[in-house]
Amino acid sequence: MPTRRPVTVTVTGAGGQIGYALLFRIASGQLLGPDTPVRLNLLEIPLGLRAAEGTALELIDGAFPLLDSVDVTDSARTAFDGAGVALLVGARPRTAGMERADLLEANAAIFGPQGRAINEHAASDVRVLVVGNPANTNALIASSHAPDVPAERFTAMTRLDHNRAVAQLAIKAEVPVTAVDGVIVWGNHSATQYPDVSHATVDGRPAREIVDERWLEEVFVPTVARRGAEIIQVRGASSAASAANAAIDHVYDWVNGTGDRFTSAGVTTGGVNAEAAASYGLPDGLICSLPVRSSRGEWQIVTGLDADPVAHAHIEASVAELLDEREAVRALGHLPG
Ligand code: NAD
Ligand code: LMR
Repeated sequence: MPTRRPVTVTVTGAGGQIGYALLFRIASGQLLGPDTPVRLNLLEIPLGLRAAEGTALELIDGAFPLLDSVDVTDSARTAFDGAGVALLVGARPRTAGMERADLLEANAAIFGPQGRAINEHAASDVRVLVVGNPANTNALIASSHAPDVPAERFTAMTRLDHNRAVAQLAIKAEVPVTAVDGVIVWGNHSATQYPDVSHATVDGRPAREIVDERWLEEVFVPTVARRGAEIIQVRGASSAASAANAAIDHVYDWVNGTGDRFTSAGVTTGGVNAEAAASYGLPDGLICSLPVRSSRGEWQIVTGLDADPVAHAHIEASVAELLDEREAVRALGHLPG
């Protein structure tokens, strides 16, 4: 029996591929846990409304005990009204041959108005996860349009990269994924990201004692960083179920805590995070993937995890790309001020 009050979960792009893989898992309780009923608000553009309405019919047919209600709308104001969790998925996916940054012009315009609607209508403790690409910079745009919502409440999804890194290391070491801990994804959700095993362990042993440097640089890093493109090439469409799975993992951990283990998330380098981000030499005012733990419902950056010179060079390149993306969206008029 659910014991808590329902939480409003808003999902944008609900009629799309990720939406279809995500919504049934939310309704079944995997996003917030088995005690929390959910009110689903599905936001679509007019072209996507019928698909979202069809999904809503199927959600009803699932007779999910935790599903309090499901509503479909093309009004951001209605969709974000009272939202405790906002999953900003709705955006164009890239196709073969594109980098995620090539989507900036097509997608950036979505996130300013949605940030404003969150600022005006969401619950005061809203948690926002941006999935739509380029996720870090879109999250920055949304946050910049929500001055009354603390910046640390806007996050970008790099959990898929983190999960990919854990899985690749586990396959190489021939262990279950549960034996792997301490992987970090630094930087942008793009080909410049740096999946880092310097602090990772496999069955409690340093990962670097188990896998060699050459494999790490020549196979592991490019496989993880380019996995999205590989999926598009092989599947013919951008990752959907694994992306939905990562969104579930991200929000579940954010709400329920990670304990001693840490994970990776795109979080602000400003506000309450400024000191911790600066300890890694990161400039203020970005959304950057970092090692994080969640406790009492808040992400905290894990500090003191020194990067070696190779890692440093990778992280600097990824941060430079984030700064370039920020300038590009500023020039396009998507950042206020
Ligand atoms: P999709 O094309 O199947 O679905 C996107 C949906 O968003 C469509 O139904 C579309 O109508 C809707 N939409 C577009 N603009 C909207 C708006 N302003 N408001 C509400 N809905 C809107 O795409 P998908 O495969 O579901 O992917 C969605 C996004 O997620 C893409 O940008 C993709 O690149 C990104 N993605 C990110 C990650 C990550 O790890 N961060 C992983 C996978 C995919
Ligand atoms: C992914 O990492 O799978 C997504 O960001 C989709 C993409 O364009 O790579």
